[in-house]
Amino acid sequence: MPFQAIIFDAYGTLFDVYSIGAQAERLFPGKGAALAELWRDKQIEYTRLRTLCSTYKPFWEVTQDALVFSCRKLNLDLTVDAQNMLMGQYARLQAFSENLAVLQALKSMNLRLAILSNGNPGMLDAAVQAAGMGEVFNHVLSVDAVKKFKTAPEAYQLGVDVLGLSARDILFVSSNCWDVCGAGWFGYKTFWVNRAGAPVEELGVTPHGEGRSLTDLLAFVEQGRARNG
Ligand code: LAC
Repeated sequence: MPFQAIIFDAYGTLFDVYSIGAQAERLFPGKGAALAELWRDKQIEYTRLRTLCSTYKPFWEVTQDALVFSCRKLNLDLTVDAQNMLMGQYARLQAFSENLAVLQALKSMNLRLAILSNGNPGMLDAAVQAAGMGEVFNHVLSVDAVKKFKTAPEAYQLGVDVLGLSARDILFVSSNCWDVCGAGWFGYKTFWVNRAGAPVEELGVTPHGEGRSLTDLLAFVEQGRARNG
């Protein structure tokens, strides 16, 4: 068998960070999509800066900081109510529609399933429960345990430690190509859920598998099993 467990990234992979755009559009007509995109980019940029300079703070707070900056940059008046509304939405992000059925199918194949995310534990638990995914995951891991965000090796190490497997026996699944690269550098097998049909990052990493949704991941896993008997 090519791998014994699958680790999933959370935001963008299981939960749709851009689904927030609809709420943002209601609050700031004509600017919803731009805000959702800048907010996400800033959020990730801040995680990298904080990890590089050892100034960790929980992802929830980083996300809030990124929202405040993004609104300022786009000249949007972020009232306390609007901020609470958008952050509240972040706690209950929509899951992509195919996810739950695919996760259940993978679980029925006796694969151990885990989440490994930059999100802090409270955020992750809320999102997992809201999506009805509480039963499918053996582990929900947060980088908060090491106070470094992905792509720090210490963050990826959490998956290896909890599963008791070597990285090459674990498939790491993310929709974020930078995360696929970080996981690949660490030693995981990787599958890129390339939802947006984006070009692969120019970082010298080729994912072991690629598809447009978790449904394609299921096909990849089934093919791997058929090849290995
Ligand atoms: C995560 C973000 C980075 O869940 O997508 O780790």
